Amino acid sequence: MRPVEYFRQPQSVAAMACSAPVMHSVFPLAQRIREIEPFHVMELLARAKTLEAQGRDIVHMEIGEPDFPTARPICDAGIKALEHGELFYTPALGLPELREAIAGFYKTRYGVVVSASRVVVTSGSSGALLLAIATLINPGEQVLMADPGYPANRHFVRMMEGEAVGIPVGPDSHYQLTPELIEQYWSSRTVAALVATPSNPTGTLIPQVQIRDIAAFAQQRGGALIVDEIYHGLVYEGATHTAVDAGDNVFVINSFSKYFNMTGWRLGWMVVPDRYIRELDKLSQNIWKNSPTPSQLAALAAFTPETLAICEARREAFRARRDYLVPALRELGFGIPHMPPGAFYVYADCSRFTSNSHAFAIDLLEQAGVAITPGIDFGVYRAREHVRFAYTRPVARLREGVRRLSGYLSTHGTALTPRARG
Ligand SMILES: Cc1ncc(COP(=O)(O)O)c(C=O)c1O
Repeated sequence: MRPVEYFRQPQSVAAMACSAPVMHSVFPLAQRIREIEPFHVMELLARAKTLEAQGRDIVHMEIGEPDFPTARPICDAGIKALEHGELFYTPALGLPELREAIAGFYKTRYGVVVSASRVVVTSGSSGALLLAIATLINPGEQVLMADPGYPANRHFVRMMEGEAVGIPVGPDSHYQLTPELIEQYWSSRTVAALVATPSNPTGTLIPQVQIRDIAAFAQQRGGALIVDEIYHGLVYEGATHTAVDAGDNVFVINSFSKYFNMTGWRLGWMVVPDRYIRELDKLSQNIWKNSPTPSQLAALAAFTPETLAICEARREAFRARRDYLVPALRELGFGIPHMPPGAFYVYADCSRFTSNSHAFAIDLLEQAGVAITPGIDFGVYRAREHVRFAYTRPVARLREGVRRLSGYLSTHGTALTPRARG
């Protein structure tokens, strides 16, 4: 299959410097910014909020963040930090004690020894992805990634004047890149592959052995592998392995956002090969100096047994939601070939109902008060035939969502409004 082309091939810096000056009709705006797309789901969310302000009840199955509040011990540590903490700049790579705590977590959770010197604390995993891509990519160089996948990644690559190469993936590879696909699409301009396990939007995993194979292949070609493990901890079947020891060219990204329910604190981390630490230190110093100090002090309480017990109980709640939602959606006619083993998403084939999932999502919101995310937020490949359901609401609300969805489909059924049908 042909790779997905997201943006036109960026010019080399030299070529850009030599070309004629761009004429700005009204105000200056970099081409890279023009090419960055918004998250379509934000428009849906805004519309849902407007409907709620008008008194409509909306079932939210679009939101990609846990509904649980941050665990009490973390909040308490945050409050203490605000009252007594030293809220100054921290080292750009993060508070040494937090880097130690993160390294210790790899030992207790996965039995893998990681030196704290390899840990970089970042502003969410978004910050980590941005730093990693900025560190690895020259203009015109390529990064391989799955389509569908987390949309910000291709934009980060575009911001660095690189080229994101979307590889179409489907149920046969559990919507993930495989060593074979990486080999097939790796070109002389490729410098890295980026995978997420579990993935957003599909909740599927890459087996550890395949991660190792991909890392080894990239190594052989002089490239790097970025593994986004932001949904680690939210896996409902089997043991999870981390990629931190998968190779000397692997960047592992993680975050306090999802498993630790700390989205708004804007804190994440990455574990990188030693030789990049100095470079990442420089970059962090220049871009944001350090990740939020109060959040770092609060996160010191994230790895205590008390907090971990709370996070584990919540993981069980997510599992119960998944176990309710997936069969219910299948019953309605959505195509879900595999039970998603992780994250809190179900990527569902809605081609039985529509060939325009965006219009379908808008119509569903307007007619039935159910908010879901259209596939176009995650790429191009069969995006109009898929939607993402997030089970970030209690089972009772999911049940209500399914009841409304069922009513909507039976009223509109095969005779969906022309707009929603596509
Ligand atoms: C796969 C993936 N990576 C990274 C992020 C960024 O998360 P944060 O910056 O909150 O850590 C998200 C957010 O939804 C995501 O789904």
